[in-house]
Amino acid sequence: MTGYKKHVFVCQHERSSESGRKSCGGSGSAELRSDLKKQITSLGLNSEIRINVSGCLGQCAHGPAMVIYPQGIWYGNIQPSDLNEILNQSILDDKIIGRLKIKQDKNEETSSC
Ligand code: FES
Repeated sequence: MTGYKKHVFVCQHERSSESGRKSCGGSGSAELRSDLKKQITSLGLNSEIRINVSGCLGQCAHGPAMVIYPQGIWYGNIQPSDLNEILNQSILDDKIIGRLKIKQDKNEETSSC
């Protein structure tokens, strides 16, 4: 049994440029995950909060994308300048940052890889 209270999955799926489709891995998601993991480590929270690499989360058009569990908060178009806010508001607390939340258009299909 793990002691993790939260799991954050950061998509790092990367497509070739010939695919014509956006991918999180081609939009800086590896750096986002690495920076977030460093912040969690510096706070001594590694045993409580896990920052995972994820494959495609089916939100490619909104990438870089992540999901935070157990709340099930989906964020997209994340920029490095958003990380502190995500950490303090949504990971350490349970608040939702409205401007980052992925709003699924009802006509939009989630991607499959
Ligand atoms: S490539 Fe990241 S959600 Fe699909």
